[in-house]
Amino acid sequence: MNQRAHPHSTTMSVPPPDLYGRWRSDPLLAAATTAARIWWPFWRPLSSVTEPRRDDGVRTLRVARREVVAEDEDVVALTLVAPDGGELPRWHAGAHLDVLLPSGRMREYSLCGDPADASSYRIAVRRIPEGGGGSIEVHDTLTVGAPIRIKGPRNAFPIAVPGHGSPATTLRFIAAGIGITPILPMLSAAERLGLDWSMVYTGRSRDTLPFLDELARFGDRITIRTDDESGLPGVADLLGPLADGQVEGVRPSVYCCGPVPLLEAVRQALRERPDVELHYERFSPPPVLDGREFTVTLASTGEQVRVGATESALAAIRRVRPAVPYSCQQGFCGTCRVHTLAGEVDHRDNILTEPERADGAFLTCVSRCAGTDLVLDL
Ligand code: FES
Repeated sequence: MNQRAHPHSTTMSVPPPDLYGRWRSDPLLAAATTAARIWWPFWRPLSSVTEPRRDDGVRTLRVARREVVAEDEDVVALTLVAPDGGELPRWHAGAHLDVLLPSGRMREYSLCGDPADASSYRIAVRRIPEGGGGSIEVHDTLTVGAPIRIKGPRNAFPIAVPGHGSPATTLRFIAAGIGITPILPMLSAAERLGLDWSMVYTGRSRDTLPFLDELARFGDRITIRTDDESGLPGVADLLGPLADGQVEGVRPSVYCCGPVPLLEAVRQALRERPDVELHYERFSPPPVLDGREFTVTLASTGEQVRVGATESALAAIRRVRPAVPYSCQQGFCGTCRVHTLAGEVDHRDNILTEPERADGAFLTCVSRCAGTDLVLDL
């Protein structure tokens, strides 16, 4: 147990100054401060045991079906149901589940089934041998009948359709490989609502693209474009009809899910296009911008890890602690949260509140050190 207080936290060992800048000499306050100084280090870790547990939103489902959905056999779709066959919480296109794997890893997977079906969820996972081990675990352990613990659904990539919060008159979908998963229910929604839409679906080769059979029903609204047949896609290939420029009376929305280079190409291409709404979801960490090197010390062992200017603290920590928890790697799920014991943090996440930051919370996947050294409660 490390009992050092975070430098930004409210310390209980120093009484506050009075209005005139002198230290208060209140006997009652002094007694309370002494008691707090003695008990606080013991109470704080104990409080997590004695305080009642809040509902953490975790639910256990069962794998009802497993289906290989890409020709290369590296993508498996899992259909999940409640053990009693009951209804599951509703969701909308773009939503995902947090999957708590048996090893303790947590991973986020987009829901790619039918939102109208309240009896099941469907996710799809590509096996990535050189990844963090989550996809391998899904492939190797989540067989039919296996229990699976989930949280959610949550939606960080909602679709806004005309008449429901968006002025768009036409939708352009751009999906790369397994990035098809959040897009798939969006296509059904667009079709059901009678919207004008088109899509380009890219990947290394056809055999790596999941759900080609399901997508066939949309006919030529979808362009399949693979690197082995046509080379890497250019911006014109990705934007399709939007690439010709602004058209009077047309308000396009783009929904894009894929790797960082593809998203950056689309973002750059649309920088000067105020007529286009861009919505996107990455499935890999964003690049580090304006990063500087710093050192992280893991307080439990004293190990020191150098964090390079273009890598995340998480990536550096994983070199010495491969099992450290993480999920989204984009600063929105909170899985990688740790407590800072010393050093100044350059917060780059979107979810921590000011009190949480002041208490030392730090998201290792995106945030960095504002100085040269951080000490983490790891
Ligand atoms: S891994 Fe999701 S916030 Fe860091």
